[in-house]
Amino acid sequence: MPDRALSFGSVAKAYERFRPGYPAELVDLVVAYAGRTPRTALEIGAGTGKATRLFARRGIAVTATDPDEAMLAELRGQVPGVRTVRAAFEDLIPGERYELVYAAAALHWTDPVDRWPRIAALLAPGGVFASVGGPIRLADPAVVQAVRAAREPFLASDELPSPDGTPAERAMQWPGTELQRSEWFTDVRQSVIARRLTVPAADYLGYLSTVSAYLELPAGQRRQVYDRIGRVLPDPVELAADLIVHLARRRAEP
Ligand SMILES: C[S@@+](CC[C@H](N)C(=O)[O-])C[C@H]1O[C@@H](n2cnc3c(N)ncnc32)[C@H](O)[C@@H]1O
Repeated sequence: MPDRALSFGSVAKAYERFRPGYPAELVDLVVAYAGRTPRTALEIGAGTGKATRLFARRGIAVTATDPDEAMLAELRGQVPGVRTVRAAFEDLIPGERYELVYAAAALHWTDPVDRWPRIAALLAPGGVFASVGGPIRLADPAVVQAVRAAREPFLASDELPSPDGTPAERAMQWPGTELQRSEWFTDVRQSVIARRLTVPAADYLGYLSTVSAYLELPAGQRRQVYDRIGRVLPDPVELAADLIVHLARRRAEP
């Protein structure tokens, strides 16, 4: 697993405080697609439980998995009573079959080799897979430019590229593209939940303190880049944070 994938635990408390949560609309979408509220779910890369709490509140028995103990410790504090398993996706042992398997801002960290047969092995036939993600971007083009200039000496980009190289203008984005190619899944759908957020500049900097691209920088450079960005940010900061949701159904047999 790349170091960057396990960079979050060192900032678990900041992650919980500064990363936006997910809207109830996300569960509504999944339940509508499934046709009924799933009774059981397994979450891949649950982190501090920002998505876990939504699904658990609907009465779904969630098993929250993550390889990072610091993230899981935060999750247990936030979502008491949820079953947690410390494991990377690649180390999950198929056994119990779930009605729903989902990942929020986490699937891109998993190993692409055998990703879909592994997920299929965790799902009951006809069970639903859901993945949600999407970049959190500055909404104002002038602020985008100013922050890019402030960041550039240290970091060309703070975003992750599409895992399978799907161009941004394609209608179907990753992981929908991979799901469409997988013999294990059918009825692949992509939906967008539009989100605009307004946050204090200090909270936006708090958010950046949890972004893996910055966490990889040496500590001195990290401080400098946050200082430089802090100087050009308006207060408050407008964010464009649309969520892209992919849904698919496991076939009985491929
Ligand atoms: C950006 S965080 C997302 C956390 C949470 N799902 C959320 O939406 O706030 C990514 C999470 O994926 C976890 N992760 C990294 N590599 C993983 C892997 N191979 N399998 C499962 N989870 C992984 C990290 O520990 C981290 O908690």
